Amino acid sequence: MPEAGAPRPAALRLALCPSEALVERGRGWVWDVQHFGQPARAFALRIDGRAVGYLNRCVHVPTELDWQPGEFLDTERRTILCSLHGAAYDPAHGQCVGGPCGRGRLTVIALDEDAQGVHWYPSRDTQPPPAAPLTDPHTTRTPDESQP
Ligand code: FES
Repeated sequence: MPEAGAPRPAALRLALCPSEALVERGRGWVWDVQHFGQPARAFALRIDGRAVGYLNRCVHVPTELDWQPGEFLDTERRTILCSLHGAAYDPAHGQCVGGPCGRGRLTVIALDEDAQGVHWYPSRDTQPPPAAPLTDPHTTRTPDESQP
């Protein structure tokens, strides 16, 4: 336990994408996460100039939202539209605004943006996926297997 008055460790902040990858109400930037220890995906959009992030999971039924890979917004680019039953979410804050999502809200992934690009903050429930095992691309063996 840190001593009283000791500086708190900074929250884990991970690089996500270059700022230019998020165009105003354009395609989403999709990335892999673990949600409660299970593989899942998240996505980022630029809405009213701000980068916003959500777990790619509908509140109605836990399925992914995009109707084409990376396409989350309706044809008028106003709401996030679930591809399965048409739930509509306000992309600025993830609140359900129509359809079978009731009073639900998308799970927010905290993002920030600076001169280096867009970053995301893992939470207790949503973490980066475990690192892929190291492999030697020339032998396709793991490092341990390549030892004599
Ligand atoms: S699964 Fe999204 S509206 Fe039903």
